[in-house]
Amino acid sequence: MAEEDRSKDVLPTSEVYHPGIGSYQQVYRESLESPEDFWSKQAGILDWHKRWDKVLDDSNPPFYRWFVNGKLNASYNALDRHLLHGRRNKAAYIWIAENGDEKIVTYDGLYRRVNNFARALIDLGMKKGDRVIIYLPMILEAPVAMLAAARLGIVFSFVFAGFGAGALAERINDSGAKMVITADGAFRNGKVVELKKIVDEALESTSTVTTVVVVKRTGTDVQMDEERDIWWHDVMKDSSTYVEPEWMDSNDPLYILYTSGTTGKPKGAVHGNGGYSVWVANTLRWAFDPREDDRWWCAADIGWVTGHSYIVFAPLFLGLTSIMYEGSITYPAPDRLWEIIDRYRVNLLYTSPTAIRTLMRFGEKYPKMHDLSSLRVLGTVGEPINPAAWKWYYEHIGHSNCPIIDTYWQTETGGFMIAPPLALGLPPLKPGSATFPMPGVDPVILDEHGKELKAEEKGYIAYRRPWPGMFLTLNNDPERFKKVYFEKYPGKYFCGDYAIRDSDGYYWLLGRADEVLNVAGHRLGTIEVEDALISSKEVAESAVFGKPDPVKGEVIVAFVVLKEQYQDEPDIVAKLRKRIREDLGPIYVPEEIHIVKTLPKTRSGKIMRRVVKAVALNQLPGDISTLENSASVDEVKAAIEIFSKETRKK
Ligand code: PRX
Repeated sequence: MAEEDRSKDVLPTSEVYHPGIGSYQQVYRESLESPEDFWSKQAGILDWHKRWDKVLDDSNPPFYRWFVNGKLNASYNALDRHLLHGRRNKAAYIWIAENGDEKIVTYDGLYRRVNNFARALIDLGMKKGDRVIIYLPMILEAPVAMLAAARLGIVFSFVFAGFGAGALAERINDSGAKMVITADGAFRNGKVVELKKIVDEALESTSTVTTVVVVKRTGTDVQMDEERDIWWHDVMKDSSTYVEPEWMDSNDPLYILYTSGTTGKPKGAVHGNGGYSVWVANTLRWAFDPREDDRWWCAADIGWVTGHSYIVFAPLFLGLTSIMYEGSITYPAPDRLWEIIDRYRVNLLYTSPTAIRTLMRFGEKYPKMHDLSSLRVLGTVGEPINPAAWKWYYEHIGHSNCPIIDTYWQTETGGFMIAPPLALGLPPLKPGSATFPMPGVDPVILDEHGKELKAEEKGYIAYRRPWPGMFLTLNNDPERFKKVYFEKYPGKYFCGDYAIRDSDGYYWLLGRADEVLNVAGHRLGTIEVEDALISSKEVAESAVFGKPDPVKGEVIVAFVVLKEQYQDEPDIVAKLRKRIREDLGPIYVPEEIHIVKTLPKTRSGKIMRRVVKAVALNQLPGDISTLENSASVDEVKAAIEIFSKETRKK
């Protein structure tokens, strides 16, 4: 969201929903003034096998450790304890297939499946501390696999099923996984994505995987390697088995989730068992105030952190009923989301600004076809929400009755950092502002040199103290963990976003301050696309950047210089697109690829991506005194002009 998009409106929300901002302020103050007592109380949201000795060990910053020596198990907290407390026959998930088929799994049913799969993992030789890659679509086997791994202390790393073979191989190699859990295929917009084939290709450039478990979902023909591959249904034979949960140390890793950065390969954020679990359960409760018989729908993909925290762990810890939908929100028709809300009487909906803007484009006709009166709370995540989309969501979906919970957070933070605290005391909402920090979160807005900025001044948002959901480290790279997040402002966590705190204390998140892209709420690295382009034999150089887009927030644009011998290569743009799709996945495919003869460079030969972007977007390029080849700027301009003319013609 551009700074000038900040809305001046203040919408008071219905009194029914909140005890008033004063009570939030009291809880917030307590969280900062007496963190030991505060977090001791909040950790009681989970069942602990052994109580912690100390709430926070901050003796070795930035490796903060929460609930030191506490022991617990995430799958026990998500399942076993509910069976003892009256939720045995409650639906954990109402799963809806892309073709509309439905499956309901109760807490007891999920518990049995998880135990059964945990037994299978043991039989297949997996043990505590091993790594497993989960590469599955939105099917029930996904939470089953995650919870079975968590039950045994096997560290899972979920790879979004939209990623390509190169991205998958990289994650297998970095995590050192022994096993991959996948499906024959995934349904997407009525078509089949052949997942097992992608796994086979990825495994050609990896050496650690000895077992691949394959769920039959689409019935697609697959090659099964007799030594290595086994069907899920063949290992799920004993539905009455019980597997004792491993009592994990609070700071043992629970999962690794890879996320893009500004340099190098994606970073493996490692989340722990105790702090993370306390954080996700409490933040969901504080921000959305879910009730026992609500139907909660987090319409994200399980492969991103939103799915991990708010489709799997938090709602199961709280014993809620979740909707889980396999397909795309516009398939088979643009009323899909509204139809599901109507049919299943969904109470809480949590989606992304891109989804809202996409559906908004289809008009009010579609939501009007359905009864949305079951909705009580609406949420968004993943990118700044522009006031126009916020208001459309508020008026046409929530009928001006549902507060909009704009949750600002990151893969690394584990759960919400800044979000309207509905359960604690909701402030009047301002469209486009995520409002106030969650308890325990201590944000500050700083300038480049670390000076604290005043209200209304735009700067970098950082956090002055650790919070329980904070990731433990980066897999295989504690030095990078220190450097990326803690070097810019010593003693503070730097997260890479711009923000403003207005004179009423509301936070406005203004997007990335670095070269990380946010496409449709997905965090992608320019560097990954550049690497994929450069590893194509035809490409000599490339510069990739994000261009503002009214629906997706940003789209990817690439400028490419071809090697001499490939200057006349036919269909080169189509070939490059195909290669990126196969290597990284469809979301990485640039919207525009421009072939040019040279790119702006510094005297030392470094491509000036900033200049390419500024010229292409028709913004002033700033300081270009170090630019070596000024003719390249004209080339970028010319390429954009030709492109605009061609687009207009179409
Ligand atoms: O730039 C911020 C943006 O998404 C980034 C985090 O991306 P990722 O780790 O993939 O996690 C996405 C889901 C939590 C942030 O650095 N972002 C996320 N939520 C918001 C947001 N920007 C503005 N408002 C939000 N509500």
